[in-house]
Amino acid sequence: MGREDWTSRLVGVSRARDAAWRLLEQGADALRAAVEAVRLLEDDPQFNAGVGSALNRDGFAELDAAVMDGETLGFGAVAAVRDVKNPVLLALEVLNSEHVLLAGEGASRFARERGLPACDPRELVTERQLERWTAARRRALEERSGTVGAVVLDAGGRLAAATSTGGMVDQRVGRVGDTPLPGAGTYAEAGLGAVSATGHGEFLARALASYRAAASLGDRSPQEALRAALDAVGRLGGSGGLILVDARGRVAWAQTTPEMSVAWRTPADEGAQMREGA
Ligand code: GLY
Repeated sequence: MGREDWTSRLVGVSRARDAAWRLLEQGADALRAAVEAVRLLEDDPQFNAGVGSALNRDGFAELDAAVMDGETLGFGAVAAVRDVKNPVLLALEVLNSEHVLLAGEGASRFARERGLPACDPRELVTERQLERWTAARRRALEERSGTVGAVVLDAGGRLAAATSTGGMVDQRVGRVGDTPLPGAGTYAEAGLGAVSATGHGEFLARALASYRAAASLGDRSPQEALRAALDAVGRLGGSGGLILVDARGRVAWAQTTPEMSVAWRTPADEGAQMREGA
């Protein structure tokens, strides 16, 4: 991402934050607010989720998304979905079913059953991702993801996390990263916190990065908990970014990826920031 894109990304994350906050003010719970923030980011073509997702080796988008309710430890996720514009809404439908994760064709069929319309896979392809894909193929390089996520604590103390991604540019068809795996890219648990991850999925998954951060909140500050999780990812050779809200409402984020845009709001404070990684 060039610096010229920073301002518009900050506008994007701030808009998602404000929409989630408005819902909370109207009495919605944390899960609904987290899903709405991620749905808006999926519709924003500058992020690697929904419209604007990274393209796989065959030149189309395969989407992963997950939601987790910290109150019930309910988890719903979809992986390698090609024809759903807002996979986070489908992940929510999975949470409200007997399953945890549905993939590919089966996830698409489930979307139709739940009334989510099919989109033309070409609707998800933007000019920018097409250029990145062409360049990545030329260089035969992997590029890091620009996954989106939201973590929310509502007034009733409920914690929720939602994450959505197009994965990594030029990824192998059928490759699934950390996003839809509980405790890898998405995690929420009452009394601990809610965490959402971006970055190189294989490493985040092996390190169980989101769970690792939430579980170490007991004896660490939120910032230290995130650092400990990213250190574990780094020891495996990967990089990532994490956002977190804990059960006390403290927010934190940390990354070892090159850039990450964040927007936050608490009763006392709000802001948006683009951070360059360590
Ligand atoms: N973190 C997104 C992915 O690796 O698929």
